[in-house]
Formats: sequence, structure tokens, C-alpha cells
Amino acid sequence: MTDFASLLVADRGQNAHPIHLVDKESFDGWLKKRPAEDRALLKAQRFDGKKPFAFALLPRGNGFEVVSAVKNSAKLSPWCLAKLAEGLPEGTYKLAEGEAGTAMLGWLLAQHRFDSYRSNKDEPESGDRILVTGEAAAIDQIVRVAEATALVRDLVNTPAADLGPAELEQAVRDEASRSGAQLRVTAGKELVDGYPLIAAVGGAATHERAPRLIELEWGKPNNPRIAIIGKGVCFDSGGLDLKSAAGMRLMKKDMGGAAHALALARLIIGERLPVQLHLLIPAVENAVSGAAYRPGDVVKSRKGTFVEIDNTDAEGRLILADALTRAAEGDPELIVDFATLTGAARIALGPDLPALFANLDELASTVERFAREAKDPLWRMPLWEPYDEMLKSDIADFANASNSPMGGCITAALFLQRFVPEGMSWAHLDTYAWRDQAKPGRPKGGDALGLRAVFAMLADRYSGG
Ligand code: BES
Ligand code: ZN
Ligand code: ZN
Repeated sequence: MTDFASLLVADRGQNAHPIHLVDKESFDGWLKKRPAEDRALLKAQRFDGKKPFAFALLPRGNGFEVVSAVKNSAKLSPWCLAKLAEGLPEGTYKLAEGEAGTAMLGWLLAQHRFDSYRSNKDEPESGDRILVTGEAAAIDQIVRVAEATALVRDLVNTPAADLGPAELEQAVRDEASRSGAQLRVTAGKELVDGYPLIAAVGGAATHERAPRLIELEWGKPNNPRIAIIGKGVCFDSGGLDLKSAAGMRLMKKDMGGAAHALALARLIIGERLPVQLHLLIPAVENAVSGAAYRPGDVVKSRKGTFVEIDNTDAEGRLILADALTRAAEGDPELIVDFATLTGAARIALGPDLPALFANLDELASTVERFAREAKDPLWRMPLWEPYDEMLKSDIADFANASNSPMGGCITAALFLQRFVPEGMSWAHLDTYAWRDQAKPGRPKGGDALGLRAVFAMLADRYSGG
């Protein structure tokens, strides 16, 4: 893992290349105050301060200064400095005026590479770009958020062959041993008896990649209890309702919810939030074999209700259902789940906006507010009760999918809601956990979407405890 702490250091007067940030409004005024040779150099480099992320170098004796355009130099976003951190030569840098604030995150993440599967790791642009900051008190938290984000990216990017339920368990185990948290793993007969839906979905791979429920408990028992749940489908072939080749191509990322949940647990523990944390990760592979669960099967859930399997590709909601039941047994004051649950959420909102569902308006608006503040956008969708009838079953209590594709992310969320007790606060994020196109600081591949929003909400809710 990238050593983020070495890339962001407190200002002790060390030598650093100054970085001047300008924007459309401020550039002309700034330029006027520069010596004539700077103006000539910037003109020669066609730097006009108007294109965010563009930058130019101004030689100074043996060294140089940097000037970079940003959208709004008075209000930096997390990604403003990412292109600089990707493109500048190795060295130590410092903003010439003001402080980087949240843009420190992009500085760090721009330097994270997923190179476990590259034989030549020394890419030409490698070498550390260190940022010196006067905001020493903010360093630790920014580094933790960068680490948590990189954890999500790396787990999601890891091929399914190398990240099955056992490896996901190991990742949670590592977190537990680092933090002194309790770990419990339920598998085998106990899983079949206690978590029938998780066992059913993982049934096809019982011998090769056994399904399990991974739970971590951390924090003082008298603190408010919260449950964080993540969908851990290590590969989603669709099961007997097999996906098409195109539909299956990215399904190593179907444990993206679990990666978000684990990263959030890590942030909560790192920040020592005064909560009693219950992390639940149902981990399975949705595979095909003679032991696979079938369309038309009926499974009695942990809660006791009978679920007819309409479609084996709607597996995420099944494993989450038993995990939600388990979480609710601990009587938490809040449950948050993350899941790469539906293609429908992507059709509705595109790749960048996780769909947020919440059974309390106040909880939804708080998450929305922190999403805006953390520049980690998401969008609320309705738990529209009339669509509940789309999940009716001819022979069981209800089915796991509707026979119409309409409102697919809503019917999935309504399915989950059946496993949340009346009156218990619950938020559900249907997230893509992936970036199809690279942006500064955010390479193509696995990504955390919605993580910082929920963490900011929790940090505020439980601050000062
Ligand atoms: N893991 C998929 C959802 C998914 C697909 C997320 C593509 C991101 C990108 C999920 O298990 C699934 O297959 N859902 C089905 C549900 C349907 C069968 C009711 C879907 O969304 O098509
Ligand atoms: Zn599926
Ligand atoms: Zn899935």
C-alpha cells in the first residue's frame, strides 16, 4: 500500500517548490504582478489560467515554481491538486498562498497505483511528490481517508480468482487484529441453519469457495450501537440465470459494497468514534454448479419469511436480507448498507451517483448534506411502497425480483426493507464502486463512491462523545 503519510508532511520550513493556484477570475490580476519573464514563459507554455488542472513550470535558478489553474482558487475541491501530484517531477511542494484543505486528499490518491499485477512497477512518472502543509492537525485524518479509499480500490480491482470469500475474510481479520476488534465467522452447517439465504446463494461454490458471514465488533458496549453491512459477492456470474459475457465482465467488483463497509469500519475505528460498531459482510461467490440454487426454489430466510427465487442473479438482496436480520437482532440505532445491488441504479443515475434509500427523511437529508460537503455526491431515491406488489409470489411470501425491469433499484431496496424492523433507522447505498473513465486522482477501475459522505455523517453524528 502506498505510504500516504510520507507524502503529506507538516511545515517545518523545509525547502519546497511553491505552487501558485489561479483561476479564470484571478489569473489576469495575478499575472500583472509577475515579472516580465514569467509572463513570457507562461505565454510560451500557452498557460492562460482558464483550463482547470492545466499547469506550467517557472524556472528559478536551479529550481522552479509551479502555477496551476483550478476551478475556484478560493474553494478547493478534493481533486484540484490531483493532476499536479500525477504530473509534477519528484520533489517537495507547498502552496504559495493559503492551504490545500480537502485537496490534500487528491494529492495523496493521485499517487496510489494498483500495480500488484504489473511486472515492471517502475513507471517513468513514479517518484514521490511530497506536499508540505501548515495544517498539521488535519494530516492524520486525510491520510486515513486516503488509505480507506485505496483499500476499496485495491479490493475491488483484485481479480476474483485472488479475492474469494476466504480472502475477504482475511481482509476483515487483518482489520480486527490491527484494532483489537472481535471477529466472528459463520460457515458450514451453522451458516445453512442460521443464514439460509447466504448459504443458498453461495451453495454452488460450497466446496471451492465456501460462503460465510463475517462479523466484526468494536467499541465500548455502552456507546450507541451501529451496524454497517456490505454486499460481498466475490464474483457474480448470475448463477443459473447466467449473465451475458458483457454483463459478467466487471463482476469481480460485486464485493464493492463489502469493500466500502470494511473501509468505513476502518475510518470509524481510526477516528475512535464513540460507537459500538457491528460490521457484517456476507461473503459468497454466485457460481454455477449442480449445487446451485435455482429459479423457482423457495428459501426460508433467517427472519422466518419464505422467499421464492425468481432470478438467481438478484443474489445481493438475498445475502443482505439475512445480514440485515442479524444486524437488527443487536438492536442498533442505525443500520447502513452498501451494495453494488442493481444495474437499474446505474441506468437511473449513471456511474457517479450512488442511489441513496432511507426510511427516515431526516437521515436521508443528513446524508445528502454531508455528501455535498464532502464532495462525494449521491442522490436519494424513493422507497415507493406501491411497487412492493411487484415482488409478489404465487406460492411463497414474496419473490426476490419482479418480472418487470421497471424501477429495479427501488424494488431491490423495498425487498431489503422487509428485513429492517419498523422504526429502526436504515440507509441503503446502491453504489457502482467503479469508474469507467479515469479522472484526475481517480484511475479507471474500482473506486469508493459514497464512503466519505457516510463517514462525514457518522463523524458529525457521534462527535464529541
Ligand atoms: N451485481 C448485480 C448488479 C450490477 C450490475 C451492479 C451491473 C453494477 C453493474 C446484481 O446482482 C444483479 O445482477 N442485479 C440484477 C437484478 C435483476 C436480475 C432483478 C440487475 O440489476 O439486472
Ligand atoms: Zn446478480
Ligand atoms: Zn450482484
